Amino acid sequence: MAKRIPTRLYLSEDEIPTTWYNLRADMKNKPDPILHPGTLQSASAADLEAVFCKEPVKQELDDTTRLIPIPEGLREFYRAYRPAPLIRAYFLEKALGTPAEIYYKHEGTNTSGSHKLNSAAAQAYYAKEEGLASLTTETGAGQWGSAMAMACAYYGLGLTVYMVKVSSEQKPYRKALIETYGAKLIPSPSNTTEAGRKILAKDPNTGGSLGCAISEAVETSIKTDKCRYVLGSVLNHVVLHQSIIGMEAKAALDKYGVKPDIVIGCAGGGSNLGGLIAPFMAEKIAGKSKARFIAVEPASCPSFTRGRYAYDFGDTAMTTPLLRMYTLGNGFIPSSNHAGGLRYHGMNPILSRLYKDGLLEARSAVQTDVFDAAVQFAKIEGILPAPESSHAIRVAIDEALECKRTGEKKTILFGLTGTGYFDMTAYQAYNNKTMTDYIPTDEDLARGFATIPDIPQNKMQ
Ligand SMILES: Cc1ncc(COP(=O)(O)O)c(C=O)c1O
Repeated sequence: MAKRIPTRLYLSEDEIPTTWYNLRADMKNKPDPILHPGTLQSASAADLEAVFCKEPVKQELDDTTRLIPIPEGLREFYRAYRPAPLIRAYFLEKALGTPAEIYYKHEGTNTSGSHKLNSAAAQAYYAKEEGLASLTTETGAGQWGSAMAMACAYYGLGLTVYMVKVSSEQKPYRKALIETYGAKLIPSPSNTTEAGRKILAKDPNTGGSLGCAISEAVETSIKTDKCRYVLGSVLNHVVLHQSIIGMEAKAALDKYGVKPDIVIGCAGGGSNLGGLIAPFMAEKIAGKSKARFIAVEPASCPSFTRGRYAYDFGDTAMTTPLLRMYTLGNGFIPSSNHAGGLRYHGMNPILSRLYKDGLLEARSAVQTDVFDAAVQFAKIEGILPAPESSHAIRVAIDEALECKRTGEKKTILFGLTGTGYFDMTAYQAYNNKTMTDYIPTDEDLARGFATIPDIPQNKMQ
């Protein structure tokens, strides 16, 4: 008789991966090079090191090394909260009456609350090794800011966090958590930077965006001695750090001979999705699997499903290097949405390339549908999910229901990126039925597209 798959597919501490997996090494079409915003030539390591830490820059530019060692000083920290559980959703399967097998990788078991800690710890570790004194960053939902605060406390580094204003108002306890770990939190846009003052002069009532907060954090890092900027998503080295999610999930599934047919993740800047799918996508690229991969984004910020594939800036002040990605334009300011971590105009270049090449699918979901799934999941599986993660839950449930309709027995794996304890304002709005759905009009999108830089590289598509 086949062995019953346990509810929790455990790995031991010794099975925490010793390397990250760099999917770019196996991609036939590589993501396009990052461009220097002044020269429009490929950015060099020296260009990027003006803003970012050295080792992550090396990783950012490395399209060829498949396996990159995770330093022992970082694995030591990982051992405090990894391996993250991989859970068979027996309760959900039963409640849905689906023949599908559903698994989720639960990244919300650490105190910061999400997968963001995987890259926060890596970036703080490298900053310390490099001899830096402090870091700056932005945060949308507050998950990345919390993760950075926790990582900087551990490695003994100062931290300034620019938090998107609407999120800081929706989540006062995120601010308290970040400050408890010793970081300085500034709602963005603020008067502390030129970029912030410019944005406020144009629109004093703006709720801010990740793009604005990035501009402020980059500016502050450049003006501060022994300080660099760290980003929690979008960039290739962040996806690399998050490959630990997919590697652990695959190692646990392999023990039971389970191969996912569908892998689903929410997509803000793409880091959890890129990390989760990496080793499974490698098999697809090698012709060893026919798995499907689905990115789920909010209908209010539809970078993949309605965006353009173009070189664009990562921030609103147009100061960062240019990335070729699916983008709504750096000037696109999404409507307030309770999934603050998915309110970003662009998408990671690796995922953008995979989407362009038809290897990755994308879907958008409105927030009331997402919260229907979140509450259903919380009641059935017992875990209160983050609004961002609930985008993946929505599509996992939809796919499982599709299996019920067709009678197909598919294996579904999704990323449960974080917990929703700090998102009770959102749950309250859902419960009170005051939650609204906003889908940008074509005119709204056109205003964002108009901010995509008019450079020769964007005319060659
Ligand atoms: C819980 C959670 N999931 C997902 C995301 C989206 O980020 P990414 O697309 O980089 O994984 C965020 C971003 O803040 C988040 O907080």
